[in-house]
Amino acid sequence: MADSLTIALSKGRILEDTLPLLAQAGIEPTDDPDRSRKLVLDTTDPVVKLVILRATDVPTYVEYGAADVGVAGKDVLLEHGGEGLYEPLDLGIARCRMMVAGFPGANAGRGKVRVATKFVNIARRYFAEQGRQVETVKLYGSMELAPIAGLSDLIVDLVDTGNTLRANGLEPLEHIADISSRLIVNKAAMKMKHRRIKAFTERLSDAVGGRA
Ligand code: ADP
Ligand code: PRP
Ligand code: MG
Repeated sequence: MADSLTIALSKGRILEDTLPLLAQAGIEPTDDPDRSRKLVLDTTDPVVKLVILRATDVPTYVEYGAADVGVAGKDVLLEHGGEGLYEPLDLGIARCRMMVAGFPGANAGRGKVRVATKFVNIARRYFAEQGRQVETVKLYGSMELAPIAGLSDLIVDLVDTGNTLRANGLEPLEHIADISSRLIVNKAAMKMKHRRIKAFTERLSDAVGGRA
């Protein structure tokens, strides 16, 4: 239906921080997303549905048009490669930094270092641009454990307060990128549902601008 709109969101921070913006744009889920086991949620707007995914799957759903729009962290977009998507709006939520971290002094740059990360593409690109030779090890979580356990010299991970690094005796060493969540749009939907998506983007933009 040319008027329908499917919005892809991920549980956790993004859902939590996006729901108030959607509410300001007149869209509220009819079931409580924290309690419901449903993965497709109806909303107060009869033509709008929310689909609840893993954060890393959001760009894939939107790229293939299984969702028209979505909200994804810039980290996830940099790692996924954003060519198949429009990225019209920075929502300014889930702010953090992509950093190289390790034990103090760990990046002294002697020989080849091993880097553990969930973000292997970002890490490879960052070190390659600097002409530094690294071996990347793909992990799916608890990156901070890798240097402690002797799995890697460095990690590439998200840092907000720095509490997780500090609690594990690590410190931020190099800044790679500032991160926040973005509205992403399927390219075909942007053409086929242009008016709907333009109006939605404008309402969200107003909500972002008007946020205290
Ligand atoms: P996941 O289960 O994939 O880690 P999260 O809900 O933790 O999902 O993270 C979703 C997005 O929120 C990330 O892609 C990133 O953009 C952002 N994010 C992750 N960790 C933090 C943090 N500690 N502080 C602020 N934003 C964060
Ligand atoms: C993220 C990230 C760091 C931590 C950084 O983990 O992977 O471990 O937050 O935040 P801080 O600097 O404020 O401590 P998250 O809380 O999302 O846990 P998970 O992704 O491993 O579930
Ligand atoms: Mg997380």
